[in-house]
Amino acid sequence: MWFILLSLAIVALTCLIYNQYTFWSRNGVPGDKHLIPFGSLKETVFGKKATGLVIHNIYKHHKEPFVGVYMLFQPALLIRDVELVRNVLVQDFNSFHDRGTGTKVTIELFSMRGASWKTLRAKLTPLFSTGKLKSILTSVNEVGDRMLNHINTQLVESKYPGLPFLNRECTQDYKIPNSDYTVKKGTSVIISVLGLHYDPENFPDPMKFDPPRFSEEQHNYNADAYMPFGEGPRPCIARRMCSINSKIAVIKVLANFNIAPKEHKEIEIDFSPGVAFIPKGGLQMKLTKKIK
Ligand code: HEM
Repeated sequence: MWFILLSLAIVALTCLIYNQYTFWSRNGVPGDKHLIPFGSLKETVFGKKATGLVIHNIYKHHKEPFVGVYMLFQPALLIRDVELVRNVLVQDFNSFHDRGTGTKVTIELFSMRGASWKTLRAKLTPLFSTGKLKSILTSVNEVGDRMLNHINTQLVESKYPGLPFLNRECTQDYKIPNSDYTVKKGTSVIISVLGLHYDPENFPDPMKFDPPRFSEEQHNYNADAYMPFGEGPRPCIARRMCSINSKIAVIKVLANFNIAPKEHKEIEIDFSPGVAFIPKGGLQMKLTKKIK
């Protein structure tokens, strides 16, 4: 008897796993290679690669506007096409207003859902208004001064996003324009910001450290594809404050120190395996005080 039950359980489990990992092929969506039970994230599970880099690799290896991936067991749709990305984040926000992280009782803004998120966001937004930012400038300046005493800093090109990918959950069925595919409510959607920022279609010669590309004169990049703080009605709430603070920090450091890599060799940045994009072991820099 137990043998029959065990066999039935094994058959049921096999069908369940098969059903889960054939989700994209059954729906006619081009999929990336995957390994059961890690899905597309084998390298992340074994601590070899940051999730953002794994997703970036999938972005690079495909040309289709959207690709089916598996975040472990969970099917998720990786959106590659810039116009479609903007539809998801901006124009068609009503179909993608949640991130799908957290639970229904989550109380932090990043993971909150629907109406609760909207209410709290509206309450918190005035904290980051122009007036409030002006009022904190003096203390930011002082903190900037103190920071020079304890400096152990890292400078990275602004095309390296702090969050290498964005995520949304489909909140109502959504037919992808110019395709036959309808994203079903509840499906996870991923956007590789790293992929967009390092795609030669969006940024010519993408690996070149070329800050003037952001100047008004040159402006040789696709501004729609640049989103270090996210996009649409649900971007980083602190983006203006962070932008001001980081500029002040960089100005303070550059005004007072000469900066050089600690060792005279090409710096290869390796990233921690977590979700945020943090260089493993930091970026070692040698600072020498400028004589004024
Ligand atoms: C340079 C530093 C930072 C970067 C690059 C950054 C970037 C981001 C990004 C990419 C998102 C997701 C946006 C999206 O999904 O479209 C986000 C969300 C968020 N960030 Fe930041 N962030 C930074 C610092 C901060 C700080 C200092 C705070 C708090 C004061 C903060 C608070 C938040 C919150 C609350 C959300 C969720 C907003 C919502 O769902 O309504 N961030 N951030």
